[in-house]
Amino acid sequence: MEQKSGRSVEVCFTPNQFDQYYTGQKVVVVIDVLRATSAICTAFAHGVARIIPVATVEEAEDYLKKGYMVGAERNGEVVDGFTFGNSPYSYMGDKVKGQTIVLTTTNGTQAIHISRKAENVVIGSLINLKAICDWLLEKNEDVLILCSGWKDKFNLEDTICAGAIAEVLIGDGGFHYHEDTTVAARYLFKSAEQSYFGFLRASSHRKRLKKLNLNKDIIYSLTPNQVDNVPILKDGAIVDWKSL
Ligand code: MLT
Repeated sequence: MEQKSGRSVEVCFTPNQFDQYYTGQKVVVVIDVLRATSAICTAFAHGVARIIPVATVEEAEDYLKKGYMVGAERNGEVVDGFTFGNSPYSYMGDKVKGQTIVLTTTNGTQAIHISRKAENVVIGSLINLKAICDWLLEKNEDVLILCSGWKDKFNLEDTICAGAIAEVLIGDGGFHYHEDTTVAARYLFKSAEQSYFGFLRASSHRKRLKKLNLNKDIIYSLTPNQVDNVPILKDGAIVDWKSL
């Protein structure tokens, strides 16, 4: 029943395991639910032209000096010298429309950087869950879902989102899978789907963001299907798939 497509979907829990799970899949989906990929999807829903993900604060500072709009986050906080970080609320409204924004975050932009050898790197989150699943089903290529995690450690929120995507590809698309990470991600998604917020009550990053008074960001990022875009990496910048 679950084996009608020739395509596979697998889940990688952390960026440092990428090379063990990447077997040349045509598509890598990068997930950082709290909050990098939710912020990126939000920006495209508000008309941003492109987002340049950079791995280091130094690169971000260089762009800032050149006059770019730059978001920089480390450990959940806006980096000193920058006016905004990673909150999805910073990526809403007219100020982002038509802009190129440079972004560096603790984990999300690192995961994008690591994935760049894949032919297609797309950005997934709960807020664009249906859009990303529809796109992957239509694309019908082998998929690796990379969870950004936290400093190369496993986290729950990215794994749940990865499980939600795997569930659709396996259930509706008949994709096959082999790795226990994929099995585990599906189990976690099924345990969490009635209330992501409740399920994640004890999760480390939810607690970290709550301490920083970022509960609003958590609620927003855990609310599925608010936007219908699929951001994709093209020549070093993320653009809306529809613009290609
Ligand atoms: C990251 O990229 O590490 C996260 O999005 C952290 C955060 O919530 O700011």
